[in-house]
Amino acid sequence: MFVSTLCLLLAACFASSLPVAQVNFDDATIAKVEADMLQIATHSWELGTAAEALTELLAPSLSVFRSTAFPPPSSLSLAVGNTTAMMNIAVTTVRTKPADSLTLINGDGAVGDPASLGVAVLLANWTRSDLADQSFAQAARSELVYLTQIAPRTSDGAISHRASQVQLWADFVYMAPPFIAYFGALAGGGTESTLLQLAYDQCRLYRNYLSDDSGLWKHIVLGDEASQDFRHWGTGNAWAAAGMMRVLQTILHSDEAPQFESQQADLTAWIKEILTATWQHQQPNGTLMNVIDDPTTFPDSSSTALLAAVTYRLAVLTSDYTLIPAANNALSLIRQNVNSDGWLLDTVNPETFNTSSPPGTFSPEGQAFVLLLQAASNDFAASVSGTL
Ligand SMILES: *[C@@H]1O[C@H](CO)[C@@H](O)[C@H](O)[C@H]1NC(C)=O
Ligand SMILES: *[C@@H]1O[C@H](CO)[C@@H](O)[C@H](O)[C@H]1NC(C)=O
Ligand SMILES: *[C@@H]1O[C@H](CO)[C@@H](O)[C@H](O)[C@H]1NC(C)=O
Ligand SMILES: *[C@@H]1O[C@H](CO)[C@@H](O)[C@H](O)[C@H]1NC(C)=O
Repeated sequence: MFVSTLCLLLAACFASSLPVAQVNFDDATIAKVEADMLQIATHSWELGTAAEALTELLAPSLSVFRSTAFPPPSSLSLAVGNTTAMMNIAVTTVRTKPADSLTLINGDGAVGDPASLGVAVLLANWTRSDLADQSFAQAARSELVYLTQIAPRTSDGAISHRASQVQLWADFVYMAPPFIAYFGALAGGGTESTLLQLAYDQCRLYRNYLSDDSGLWKHIVLGDEASQDFRHWGTGNAWAAAGMMRVLQTILHSDEAPQFESQQADLTAWIKEILTATWQHQQPNGTLMNVIDDPTTFPDSSSTALLAAVTYRLAVLTSDYTLIPAANNALSLIRQNVNSDGWLLDTVNPETFNTSSPPGTFSPEGQAFVLLLQAASNDFAASVSGTL
């Protein structure tokens, strides 16, 4: 007993002092994962998540994970990396947006989802070659007006994830707060502090409603009962942790960072809370189950990939490597689960939440999560070797 406890302690110490980065995907496989993603991403949140993944992986100096994030360069020719696919998404979104739409794209009834495209649209504005073109800035401003002035809210200010009723989904945290924070960090002045605080407050309010004693978040609360979902959905927890991570990084790399220290500490703690609770339920081969703490549900690669990505990001930020063995185990599972054509297997169907993707069909967001995992594990490896 004593010996095994000691070994556990030693293992923990060892893991903390000598993190080993897991080998991730080769470039050819990642190119297939990316092409597959672009082939099947159609919904607002899928395109927004794809744009973020392309930024983090292919043009990381533009992403909020870098101190170079603010302000962005005035021209794409000054950006390091390949921004073509990401910019295509932003440009197509704004060029096809109906003139009378406040939101960036049809959100299928969701408030939050169209906002997921907002960061890419703001990047398109900052780097545009035609300085007379106000369409990107205008589209981003309308989206912000919709979120902050028109969308329904709870009495304490949580912006609803649904347009037709007040209902809170964990998914919202990845879709809207990162855009609100990013808009603020670019705006400067009073708008900046107001919007950084608003993005933080949305994370705080959503956690108040959705987190419970397990440390995990429920998926959907409030609104019509038939669509409420109190289970600890893997992808919902992944959206929440990853969204809070982007808000945290946006604050950290903004010029308001010194005024937002307690907010950064809270976000760090809230992300760690989800990750610590999550990995306790990891299966021996590295996967998470679709409902994280329900082993009778099926294995889900999508949430496993995004939660592993956030785990690497948190370790880079805090130098706390406690959860890295779990992330490494998840990464090797994801490597086994990407087939030779670049498709991620064993994903939850992102539209039912509770069934696997039918045979021969794949998850657009799952494809993006593989790219986010690659970007995060690249950064972790660079951080450990002192080259980030
Ligand atoms: C950049 O990405 C685009 C779109 O994915 C691709 O067609 C192009 O070949 C890439 N350019 C370079 C220099 O890799
Ligand atoms: C659009 O880009 C310009 C720089 O070209 C910047 O001054 C302006 O604030 C940007 N608009 C938004 C909404 O970020
Ligand atoms: C991982 O383990 C789960 C059961 O915990 C199993 O259903 C799944 O098929 C395994 N995945 C791989 C790639 O072996
Ligand atoms: C999935 O959820 C739907 C809607 O809540 C329900 O009708 C269905 O029975 C569930 N399926 C499974 C396999 O749990």
